[in-house]
Amino acid sequence: MNSQSPERRVLDGELTRRGAICALATLTLGALAAPAVAASGVKVLRNGRVEVTLAQNPALKEVGGVVRIDDVRGRSIALVRTAKGRNGFTALDLRCTHEGTFVKQEGDIWGCPNHGAAFSLSGEVKIGPAKTPLRKLRVSATAKKVVIS
Ligand code: FES
Repeated sequence: MNSQSPERRVLDGELTRRGAICALATLTLGALAAPAVAASGVKVLRNGRVEVTLAQNPALKEVGGVVRIDDVRGRSIALVRTAKGRNGFTALDLRCTHEGTFVKQEGDIWGCPNHGAAFSLSGEVKIGPAKTPLRKLRVSATAKKVVIS
């Protein structure tokens, strides 16, 4: 008989599943993503769009780089470098699609501290109970800036 509490066994199982997903993502990407850092050079425009200056966010130079932008009119946003080139950015609304809790980066996934959902860095569901991906925000980029709508 297992002497651990049911809650502990559930938590251990969740960590194991998340560990497996991180390992799979690492095999796919070749390296763990760097932890998200708070974005610098962020300007909220009058129309509510968010402008991120790339020169002030060196984390976004490399594929797998992530910056986090919090407190933008109640939103938390992640800007992820998913590929090289101007179209290689993905912006995500970090509210879990299950019940709206803000997710946190745990290696190569976004984990929800509320009920344990996990999403890939680009927002796809890896572990429920969430059924839909993190919401992608519109992005337009130049060589110097990324604008998130
Ligand atoms: S709110 Fe994220 S899993 Fe429930």
